[in-house]
Amino acid sequence: MDQQVARQVGPTTSAVRPPAEEGLAPGDQPVRLRAVLAGIGAYLPETVVTNDDLARRVDTNDAWIRERTGIRQRHLAAAHETCAFMATRAARAALADAGAAASEVDAIILGTATPDQVFPATAVRVQAELGAGGFAFDISAACSGFIYALSMADALVRSGQARGVLVIGAEVFSRLVNWQDRSTCVLFGDGAGAVFLRAAPGVPGPETPGILSTHLHSDGRLGDILYVDGAVGQPDRPGHVVMNGREVFRHAVTHLSDAVSEALAANGLVAVDVDWLVPHQANARIIEGVGRRLGLPAERVILTVDRHANTSSASIPLALAEACADGRIRRGQLVLMEALGGGLTWGSALVRL
Ligand code: ACO
Repeated sequence: MDQQVARQVGPTTSAVRPPAEEGLAPGDQPVRLRAVLAGIGAYLPETVVTNDDLARRVDTNDAWIRERTGIRQRHLAAAHETCAFMATRAARAALADAGAAASEVDAIILGTATPDQVFPATAVRVQAELGAGGFAFDISAACSGFIYALSMADALVRSGQARGVLVIGAEVFSRLVNWQDRSTCVLFGDGAGAVFLRAAPGVPGPETPGILSTHLHSDGRLGDILYVDGAVGQPDRPGHVVMNGREVFRHAVTHLSDAVSEALAANGLVAVDVDWLVPHQANARIIEGVGRRLGLPAERVILTVDRHANTSSASIPLALAEACADGRIRRGQLVLMEALGGGLTWGSALVRL
């Protein structure tokens, strides 16, 4: 059996008897496994494009973009900054932050709407770059990709199928937008963020570090308010983002507020228990709307959309990485994440750091 296969069997076998159960006598209560957020990393492209820079090539202006979205600038990828390139850098930073070697990685789950290729998955490109074993796959849930990936990773860890999981959100939306459509091209930016999750035994409850809950939703009936008008085998379609902004806005505030309430209720918590809201960074007005409904003061909401614009599935880990690096978010604090994207897809994750 070669090295790659042998490593994959390891964590899979442990699903039968997770490490936390080893040594238990029959009838003993097993200690539950939790996915603990051990490290966080980020990568932003070097090129920064301000609203004024954009106004030189698109019929727009700084005031319009700022008032409606809160965006002041975005990072845009150069040719060499592919989805896999940025994802790998964010992943390496997350592993370094966790003090973990690539050999600790049992699985890589990458949320993206802008993979470099239809297949193989960008996640396996990252796996090869890192020299990691285990298994790797992408998740397509548009801007909710990171929350979806985190939820899958949590399930793998809690079932004992993987002990170390890299969860990545990476996007190159600048290659997906129609640069002739000013109503969408000004909204997006590029980048990648990653977290490394480690399995740890822990008693259930909101004080124990780890992922407390994730909740996922989708409604395919709303697939036509935000989509990409192209696919393999449709050469007449350019494959650009198409959006009914007003409809997206309306559904975003309602669904995200409900998702946040759902997460709190499921854990027997109320809004004041949450130290930080780390929302998907689509639009400052959507974020403010959700914060208001939740009754969370703006000082406890992480905002990066002004400098990163909407980086789709990368936006939450990028925001998390920034706020952890500058000391706002600290170990032991309770962090609520939420996202909504094309599909529509939406969901939340509640994490004790
Ligand atoms: N610069 C200048 N003018 C513009 C621009 C631009 N970039 N884009 C559109 N306009 C013009 C329009 O042509 C229109 O002009 P008109 O009145 O002469 O026809 C006017 O501005 C108003 O256009 P609307 O589309 O009605 O603008 P609206 O107030 O709805 O704001 C926006 C648009 C910002 C997209 C808003 O609908 C919104 O925030 N929607 C949420 C969608 C979102 O955030 N999507 C991100 C992806 S989804 C996600 O991540 C959750």
